[in-house]
Amino acid sequence: MASLSSSSYLRIFLLVFFFCYSSVQAANLPFHPRDVLPLLPKQVSWPIINYLSSAVDLLPSFVGSVSSPNNTVEWKGACFYENTAWMEFHNKSGSEFGGGTLHIKVSNAHSWTWMLGTLEALWDVFPLFTNTGWGEKSNIAFLEKHMGASFEERPQPWYTNISVDDVHSGDFLAISKIRGRWGGFETLEKWVSGAYAGHTAVCLKDSEGKLWVGESGHENEEGEDIIAVIPWDEWWEFELNKDDSDPHIAFLPLHPDIRAKFNETAAWEYALSMSGKPYGYKVVNAYESCVLRVAVASVMTVWSKIQPEYAANMWNEALNKRLGTQNLDLPEILVEVEKRGSSFDELLTIPEQDNWTYSDGKSTSCIAFVLELYKEAGLFDPISDSVQVTEFTIKDAYSLKFFENNSSRLPKWCNDADNVELPYCQILGKYRMELPGYNSMDPYPHMNERCPSMPPKYYRPENC
Ligand SMILES: *[C@@H]1O[C@H](CO)[C@@H](O)[C@H](O)[C@H]1NC(C)=O
Ligand SMILES: *[C@@H]1O[C@H](CO)[C@@H](O)[C@H](O)[C@H]1NC(C)=O
Ligand SMILES: *[C@@H]1O[C@H](CO)[C@@H](O)[C@H](O)[C@H]1NC(C)=O
Ligand SMILES: *[C@@H]1O[C@H](CO)[C@@H](O)[C@H](O)[C@H]1NC(C)=O
Ligand SMILES: *[C@@H]1O[C@H](CO)[C@@H](O)[C@H](O)[C@H]1NC(C)=O
Ligand SMILES: *[C@@H]1O[C@H](CO)[C@@H](O)[C@H](O)[C@H]1NC(C)=O
Ligand SMILES: *[C@@H]1O[C@H](CO)[C@@H](O)[C@H](O)[C@H]1NC(C)=O
Repeated sequence: MASLSSSSYLRIFLLVFFFCYSSVQAANLPFHPRDVLPLLPKQVSWPIINYLSSAVDLLPSFVGSVSSPNNTVEWKGACFYENTAWMEFHNKSGSEFGGGTLHIKVSNAHSWTWMLGTLEALWDVFPLFTNTGWGEKSNIAFLEKHMGASFEERPQPWYTNISVDDVHSGDFLAISKIRGRWGGFETLEKWVSGAYAGHTAVCLKDSEGKLWVGESGHENEEGEDIIAVIPWDEWWEFELNKDDSDPHIAFLPLHPDIRAKFNETAAWEYALSMSGKPYGYKVVNAYESCVLRVAVASVMTVWSKIQPEYAANMWNEALNKRLGTQNLDLPEILVEVEKRGSSFDELLTIPEQDNWTYSDGKSTSCIAFVLELYKEAGLFDPISDSVQVTEFTIKDAYSLKFFENNSSRLPKWCNDADNVELPYCQILGKYRMELPGYNSMDPYPHMNERCPSMPPKYYRPENC
């Protein structure tokens, strides 16, 4: 049982309210979620929908309001099977508005300590998206507090003049943005996935030795996010001088043995076949990760009221793929599941397949794009048929044992201004980038298809 002090009752109350928003008309609350939500950029919707995994999240039900000790609310939650809440009013704080304690009783709990952390974390989400020094500080503070990240300042200069000769096809770019709309978006994604980078791209050299960058999530002149293959100079110039999200970039060179496997022709074919397509989303099978459902779902719930069509389409499409059906809506899906003697839970644990094509193209988040290119280039051979890269997070990607592990083989310019030796080359950013778990895991069949992800420890069972 958790009894919270009156200092936290209001925020918890607001969050419980968020959960329950769907049919509550919030007549007597100080603000309406509709006033807050449009402040969140559209890009937030992607990571949010990425991590949704239960219909309950999308179709929340009103569980009641807590207003007095006599008025107890019970509900079945995503992570706790039996939950009760009631409100005890008192005036211990002696304030004008009085005070009270919201009691939340949970049982059959997964763990409730993280839940409190989660609720608090949500509270900190709102300033993350402002494109100001304050917004950047909020992102840093959030990642320090909720992920245990550290932001140590590096010596100047905060950028490196790389030598293109030392860069090869397949080398990985891990990017971390900490300001503005992308900053807030990445912060949430890092927090839910445990990754210390929020964006990725890949280097490609053409037959004349010119260096290019393949990137899913590149913003074109019309302001759309697309998949693009861009000359290095143009890409770097943008990151150095025009990207207002304060990008931090690490260059992760492939291990020579892995590089020897890399089929450049196949990689180019794949990259060019994807170029110009919209940057995609994916429905990560993070079913076990109920923190996502509890936390982000509360915002999502409100959002799905504002753009219900968009939310429902993506959700239904993903479920239809899993069932092998087409165009069933949610009630029909439920009937179909029932008919097959299966359960909704089982349906949700079916991993995403890399060859599923959605109505707006293949599923190509920034990391799925890079890893699919690796797959096409042969880096997952001989097990590539049993690896579904859409199940990988950015952390899973940089954890792969694909990268240079002999520091004497790193390029001369690698971290040349820094006094701390990193196993990869940070080429941009004021703060030193950390990538815990970097270069540590050999690929294996069905890798990452059953991995939970739960802040703040992100425990990963072996061979999940
Ligand atoms: C709660 O119940 C008690 C006993 O049943 C009653 O005396 C009290 O007035 C009730 N309080 C409210 C706010 O309804
Ligand atoms: C709470 O106590 C303070 C000080 O005793 C008083 O001024 C205030 O009106 C009380 N509030 C309520 C809601 O009872
Ligand atoms: C990078 O190259 C430019 C142009 O050659 C030079 O002005 C600058 O000092 C170099 N910076 C670093 C950090 O080496
Ligand atoms: C590399 O990929 C191309 C195109 O997919 C293919 O034709 C070629 O045989 C591959 N090369 C090797 C060495 O596998
Ligand atoms: C996707 O791949 C699976 C096995 O890897 C195969 O059975 C299935 O037919 C493929 N689907 C499409 C649409 O290519
Ligand atoms: C690391 O690379 C250097 C230079 O290529 C080589 O001399 C050394 O043996 C390598 N070390 C290991 C442990 O492979
Ligand atoms: C790097 O990895 C290779 C193969 O995975 C291993 O043989 C080698 O000892 C490693 N080198 C270092 C310096 O750890």
